[in-house]
Amino acid sequence: MSFPADFLWGAATASYQIEGAAFEDGRGECIWTRFSHTEGKVKHGHTGDVACDHYHRYAEDVALMRRLGLHAYRFSIAWARLLPQGTGASNQAGIDFYNRLIDALLEAGITPFATLYHWDLPQALQDRGGWTSADMPEWFAEYTALAAKHYGDRLKHWITLNEPWCIAFLGHSLGIHAPGIRDERAAFRAAHHTHLAHGRAVQVLRQSLPDAQVGITLNLAPVQPFSADPQDQAMARLFDGLQNRWFLDPVFKGRYPEDIVTRLNANGLLDGLDLSAVQLAAQPLDFLGVNYYTRQIVRHDPSSPHGFTTLVPEGAPVTDMNWEIYPQGLRDLLLRVHQEYAPPAIYITENGAAFPEPEQVEGEQLDDPQRVAYLESHFNAAAEAIAQGVPLKGYFVWSLLDNFEWAEGYTKRFGIVHVDFSTQKRTLKRSALYLQQVIQSGVLA
Ligand code: FCB
Repeated sequence: MSFPADFLWGAATASYQIEGAAFEDGRGECIWTRFSHTEGKVKHGHTGDVACDHYHRYAEDVALMRRLGLHAYRFSIAWARLLPQGTGASNQAGIDFYNRLIDALLEAGITPFATLYHWDLPQALQDRGGWTSADMPEWFAEYTALAAKHYGDRLKHWITLNEPWCIAFLGHSLGIHAPGIRDERAAFRAAHHTHLAHGRAVQVLRQSLPDAQVGITLNLAPVQPFSADPQDQAMARLFDGLQNRWFLDPVFKGRYPEDIVTRLNANGLLDGLDLSAVQLAAQPLDFLGVNYYTRQIVRHDPSSPHGFTTLVPEGAPVTDMNWEIYPQGLRDLLLRVHQEYAPPAIYITENGAAFPEPEQVEGEQLDDPQRVAYLESHFNAAAEAIAQGVPLKGYFVWSLLDNFEWAEGYTKRFGIVHVDFSTQKRTLKRSALYLQQVIQSGVLA
């Protein structure tokens, strides 16, 4: 299996998960600071206050990326560093951090891909309603314009939002992510505003940076019914509607999927929303970012509130997140997105796995054979998709570093580089060297 010569290989991170320096240089409070400091929200009471201390160690981390031969690096910008109150007065010290990071990346020959929003909303905006507020699209447009003004001369690849499904549902109906709200109507309201905010951000970027490459990152999964039973099939279709089509259809077709609208309306879950406004989300894009971790098998279950549950097949291999390892799902998903939505280009903006690993390592390297096997099988699936005509242009492994895995704190290690959180020492895992070798040779062994 080989990859095109111009295929972009990289790794991904997110601001709150790695930067630390939560209270430095004028950074405003964000919803994850508030949430993680609230008792019982994050495992062991972990917070992102220090994380990987990347804010101070970015030069060392860029040097690591260079050593691995990465072509590209996907990071996110912390809104509250640029605009501590979310809107209004900007903060030069925060702006300068990303100036330094972008310059260091370019100096190392690494193409920066920046995500504008990877979940760390300024708390000041949450206090004004956050994603449930109809003002969110304009707040996001203001922030986008500021970032474009400061970075657009050097930063050419922009991702508006990371995983709006998670913003809406993990944050507003399941409540396991910040801001920790448990209200289904609020979740659909938040989802609606992510669509509009995305649309406005694309407009702003197009206007200010005509040469920018602009996309959005969605967390998508192939969905399969547990059996041929029509009830399982119907629930799989519903699940696919909520997980995939509720986000793909607005972005590529400018409307919501009818079957899901009908169902949600029956429960009043979309009351008060002007659904036709979602056409704003359908701005022409240069690429779609796909985050893939696993497939979803859906079974009819009348005892659960929505009538379905998801399950992992018995005996199937799983990661430390208990996510099934299912590489062919990546190929199937890419083919489906290509056939049904035809984005001009696709990047895998996240794919990777957590496995149990020690907090401290002796020696120069950590052996992580399961992650190497995980990556190899998923790289293969990606190569198959390319061979079948999918315009896949690049692949970002999640993650460069072990980091703050949201509600799981530091207990789940996704890095290809190990981080000892007591000393901040970085140690390469074998998977990092495996990636280095794939990048160098362009082929899978
Ligand atoms: C994704 C997130 C990313 C990371 C991985 C494991 O949903 O975008 O920040 O937590 O999952």
